[in-house]
Amino acid sequence: MVCLGNICRSPMAAGLLRDKIKKNNLDWEVASSGTGSYHIGEAPDRRAQEMMFIMEKNISDMRAQQFKQEDFDEYDLIFCMDKENYNNVIRKADTEQKKRVSLLLDILPDSEYEEVPDPYFNNQFRLAYKLLDEATDVILEKWGGIK
Ligand code: 4NP
Repeated sequence: MVCLGNICRSPMAAGLLRDKIKKNNLDWEVASSGTGSYHIGEAPDRRAQEMMFIMEKNISDMRAQQFKQEDFDEYDLIFCMDKENYNNVIRKADTEQKKRVSLLLDILPDSEYEEVPDPYFNNQFRLAYKLLDEATDVILEKWGGIK
């Protein structure tokens, strides 16, 4: 899961998916990173932690890291929160790797959103949570066969 700062959207996405993986006993690994370097080493934004906590999820253990080329070797699928993140990841990818990178909300074709709006600036953590919850449900359905 990739966003810009790796302190709001992608840790929330990874936290949601981590919980669903555990609940369904799936043998998957999930991680998150940001294309930017400003917040490396920081815990998720307090507002993101609070939003997750309200929904009985804890992401306080996560620490921001920057997306790196080697991540293509570690992870099969790379989901980006917005088009800017997508373009930055694609720029680092070779032809094969490009096929494994997508815009996360492409898996919600009926959504009115193409990108997860950045709550760091607009404060809409509830909206981000809702979109990420829906998208991670579809990931479980599509790759895990879980309804
Ligand atoms: P995120 O949000 O990409 O969802 O983690 C942001 C966090 C910090 C900044 C930008 C976006 N920033 O510019 O510091």
